[in-house]
Amino acid sequence: MTDTSRAEPIVVIGPPGSGKSTVGRLLAQRLGVEFHDADTEIQREQGRPISDIFASDGEEVFRAIEEAAVERGLREYTGVFALGGGAVLSATTRERLAGHTVVFLGVGMAEGVRRAGLSTARPLLAGVNPRATYKALLDARLPLYRAIATVEVDTDGLTPDEVTDTLMARL
Ligand code: S3P
Repeated sequence: MTDTSRAEPIVVIGPPGSGKSTVGRLLAQRLGVEFHDADTEIQREQGRPISDIFASDGEEVFRAIEEAAVERGLREYTGVFALGGGAVLSATTRERLAGHTVVFLGVGMAEGVRRAGLSTARPLLAGVNPRATYKALLDARLPLYRAIATVEVDTDGLTPDEVTDTLMARL
């Protein structure tokens, strides 16, 4: 049975467009717990959009900010905590996630690109060839997501509600 009284958050990981924020919020509602999103927290704390952090300071600075935000979230939050798609690139973050319930939302390339869109709000996908960029991102990250996931759901062809149903049955 799902333990909603746990002190540590259920962490949601996956590539852009996998539905981490949408499903994470739905899962939190179903469990009756709070929801936090690392990207939202970073933007609030920094007072600027993530695309601005990338543009002004570069990816390395963003990753350091992200690593600190995830560390704080893992310490402070209960409920459900969705991370940005690249948070798992940090070995330190991956180590910190050991022992947590980590939900990996998988998505195929076609659907992932479609869902993530070509928005400049996602600076890593805003280049000249978003499909190639997305494929490279999936190839590099899939092993990282899978290494730390305790639950994996393939979201292709599923609505956020259906993904949440699947998770509720498996957590
Ligand atoms: C990133 C994904 C974004 C955001 C940043 C970097 C990535 O979050 O953290 O633009 O490296 O995949 P989403 O996964 O919510 O799009």
